[in-house]
Amino acid sequence: MSMIAEDTLMCDREWGDTEFESKILRNLLGCYPTGVAIVTTRTADGRDVGLTINSFASLSLDPPLVLWSLVNHSPNLAVFRDCTHFTINILGHGHQELAMRFANPRIENKFADVATHLTPEGVPALHGAIATLVCENHKQDTIGDHLLMVGHVRRIGSEAGKPLVFHGGSFTALHEAP
Ligand SMILES: Cc1cc2nc3c(=O)[nH]c(=O)nc-3n(C[C@H](O)[C@H](O)[C@H](O)COP(=O)(O)O)c2cc1C
Repeated sequence: MSMIAEDTLMCDREWGDTEFESKILRNLLGCYPTGVAIVTTRTADGRDVGLTINSFASLSLDPPLVLWSLVNHSPNLAVFRDCTHFTINILGHGHQELAMRFANPRIENKFADVATHLTPEGVPALHGAIATLVCENHKQDTIGDHLLMVGHVRRIGSEAGKPLVFHGGSFTALHEAP
């Protein structure tokens, strides 16, 4: 093998592929473990809406801002874009079924038999979440194929518990480092 060919191979190995299908990218992004949350809100006519997300991230401490993103073909795009507040409910490791329920578009009323309370801001919060952040809808922007939602954190709460984890396309839990 010539030096040039070897260099090219090295280059590929060191710097990676510049052409890839989005499925490949999605699988690669799955190498990055995340927590799992359910974002909830209430429409002006009193209907509760929520979905499972793992795009949640902290953005700023001062002011306290968080972000998440909603796929732009979501049936609830307008609901979240126009809401005044939403709740980020961070799930514990026993909440896998709840996460799957709120990720299933075929379930008409995801909130049936799910314990919630209404926050003073008028949005539902799920009982048992290990952390709850009630956010004012601060900013939204369509970026790529998602609506980026930025929330100003107005109220927080927490309960003891370990988080549910999403990694490689599956739910898992934290394990002690060896
Ligand atoms: C672990 C996990 C994370 C998800 N993260 C997001 C996300 O960040 N944004 C998003 O738009 N959909 C996300 N989804 C998909 C939605 O939960 C799913 O499309 C859901 O059906 C949307 O509810 P809706 O159709 O009632 O709006 C995720 C699903 C799972 C299982």
